[in-house]
Amino acid sequence: MELLKWNRSLNIGVDVIDKQHQHIGDCINRLHKAIEDGNRGAIGVSFDEIIDYTITHFGFEEDLQIKAGYEFCTAHRRAHLLFIKRIGVFKQQFDASQEEESIEIGQEVLLMLRRWIINHIQQEENYSDFVLSRMKENTADKERSKGWVSRLFN
Ligand SMILES: [Fe+2]
Ligand SMILES: [Fe+2]
Repeated sequence: MELLKWNRSLNIGVDVIDKQHQHIGDCINRLHKAIEDGNRGAIGVSFDEIIDYTITHFGFEEDLQIKAGYEFCTAHRRAHLLFIKRIGVFKQQFDASQEEESIEIGQEVLLMLRRWIINHIQQEENYSDFVLSRMKENTADKERSKGWVSRLFN
């Protein structure tokens, strides 16, 4: 059974970010399955996948916020770094553990991730409205300038 079921309330309205969050949710479900199977190798693979993809997602988000001129991007980045540190400690413990203990660590990580992804998404609503309005302005600017250019050459 899936641990996380995606539903519309988890969308923040910025399509590209929603897809990335959903992908993180899929990774968490894969980790859940690996734990249920008691498969240490698969837990390790899912664990790495979550860390790698989340780092990519954070980078994307930070870049988007900087481009949009979001005022609180530094604080947001700090929260990302804290998470990376936290999950990194879990990964070190996992790598150093033996079979049974590694499953327990996997379960702990899973509980942490389940809470984290929901919090992470809820907090993202603080910046999504801002980014969306900047995106709309940007599109309107482009259309305006296209109109202006085409008028000039007609
Ligand atoms: Fe974020
Ligand atoms: Fe995010």
